[in-house]
Amino acid sequence: MKGLVLAGGAGTRLRPITYTSAKQLVPVANKPILFYGLEQLREAGVTDIGIIVGDTHAEIEQAVGDGAEFGLQVTYLRQDQPLGLAHAVLIAADFLGDSDFVMFLGDNLIEGGIGHMVEAFRTDAPAAQLLLKQVTDPERFGVAELGPDGRILRLVEKPKDPPSDLALVGVYLFTSAIIDAARRIEPSWRGELEITDAIQRLIEDGAPVRASHVEGWWLDTGKKDELLEANRIVLGTVERRIDGKVDARSELVGNVVIEAGAEVRGSTLRGPCVIGEDARIVDSFVGPFTSIGPDCLVERSELEFSVLLRGCHVRDISRLEGSLLGREVSVSPTDRRPYAYRLMLGDHSQVEIPGGP
Ligand code: DAU
Repeated sequence: MKGLVLAGGAGTRLRPITYTSAKQLVPVANKPILFYGLEQLREAGVTDIGIIVGDTHAEIEQAVGDGAEFGLQVTYLRQDQPLGLAHAVLIAADFLGDSDFVMFLGDNLIEGGIGHMVEAFRTDAPAAQLLLKQVTDPERFGVAELGPDGRILRLVEKPKDPPSDLALVGVYLFTSAIIDAARRIEPSWRGELEITDAIQRLIEDGAPVRASHVEGWWLDTGKKDELLEANRIVLGTVERRIDGKVDARSELVGNVVIEAGAEVRGSTLRGPCVIGEDARIVDSFVGPFTSIGPDCLVERSELEFSVLLRGCHVRDISRLEGSLLGREVSVSPTDRRPYAYRLMLGDHSQVEIPGGP
């Protein structure tokens, strides 16, 4: 069985972060989202992996390399434009040959891995095996309509009027029949070759299409709040580990991870939280569900429930929460008049400041 990982696409919903970085490399608990999927593929014994890459190919290739570090053998497959998930399957047709494969969306995170799903596929040998999860906002996803016997009747992509609340999770198992089905579909209203339409073709052909339900959490990290939520949940699974330096004036509570080269002085850290390599936390409070990236400096500040990417500086700020800062972002008070907010924000940035009635 091969793996097809989708790491192309545009990432519009995570702008401005994704103007400068691939959305699949945005970190959750200081590890790129994409790496969780790659690790789960290897754990399931799927090691021959094709990765679909687009405009951000250089960054993805640099992060993943030839896959050896993950115990994988990686082939990069270039998709010039994000023309849809089924288009990505067609791009990968030569790589896939007539092999069965797992398709894993590079911005999805699921709890507990995919081993059981791969096993079930090997035993039952359907044409497609899907994963479903009940959601409160099905219009944002591919949605499955099931018959009374639990069989899939119909799949619709981002329906305005969803036939159920069962969303398609971004992990699929296919035989090569999906390649032929993808060749027989037309672009949707949003101009993409939809994988849901290709699977619908399989259903209409009478091919067996199975679905199981995700028991644990599933996170599609497309937007800021979802990313913070993913960070919160994944941090909930980390164990305390102190590889950096902590002075006697500091207090660490709960599951705190301090990577090598990081330094904590005169601060209180309340886990779960992670402090990246060579970061410095000085006279500050870092609260639960916070990931501070490598090389960050947090000084005389208080923050929690936030994600800071590499090299951010936060000085004299009380207090920051629910925030996502891109690489090398600086937040500090002004010491020159007029005392006003002075902002330099990328396109599509969002700032919320205390105000109110
Ligand atoms: O997250 C689950 C959902 O993923 C499913 O419920 C939907 O049925 C499915 O269409 C997909 O919807 P999204 O709108 O969230 O897909 P997105 O455009 O975010 O792309 C998912 C991943 O695939 C992402 O890592 C980018 C990559 N991609 C996407 C497209 C459209 C590619 O590599 N090439 C592409 O052409």
